[in-house]
Amino acid sequence: MNIRLALATESIILFNVDRAQTFSAHWSEMDWQSELAHPSARVWGAFVNGKLVGFICTRGAADQYEITNLAVEPGHTRQGIGRALLAHALEELKALGAGQVTLEVSTANEPARALYQSGQFVTLGMRKKFYKDGSDALILGKKL
Ligand SMILES: CC(C)(COP(=O)(O)OP(=O)(O)OC[C@H]1O[C@@H](n2cnc3c(N)ncnc32)[C@H](O)[C@@H]1OP(=O)(O)O)[C@@H](O)C(=O)NCCC(=O)NCCS
Repeated sequence: MNIRLALATESIILFNVDRAQTFSAHWSEMDWQSELAHPSARVWGAFVNGKLVGFICTRGAADQYEITNLAVEPGHTRQGIGRALLAHALEELKALGAGQVTLEVSTANEPARALYQSGQFVTLGMRKKFYKDGSDALILGKKL
């Protein structure tokens, strides 16, 4: 499979991939438009045969950055795309001077927790009953 990673630009396509997954941020189309326009936000897409099948979003400044959203379309999971997006974003943030990257993940989200664990993220804190389904949020971080 030929995966191409490039900056994503089309809010409606990002919106559709985001909406198709559980546990992603489920931003509205307007949220996507503001994210794409935000000066400190980066939205990377994974393209297979020219079609966007996944994305990762980061935001930050100075040496502190955050992964704000990540998803791979259901038909394309378990093919290494999530790991490729994460590695690409971390490399870019390191080049920008990031010292630490943080993110928030539900304790109920086993696939994402396994992905971050394999990427050497560590738990920095927990927000009890943070999500609508009653699950806790883990704050994970990685030093770059
Ligand atoms: C989390 C997510 C982005 C992973 O994307 P992906 O392309 O399937 O991930 P990869 O194929 O690169 O897998 C990388 C690692 O993640 C873990 N993983 C991915 N899917 C998994 C699953 N269903 N169960 C257990 N571990 C899983 C594994 O450790 C895997 O490594 P391995 O294949 O060598 O075992 C995807 O499942 C997704 O979009 N989930 C919904 C949105 C979401 O949870 N976003 C993160 C919010 S914090």
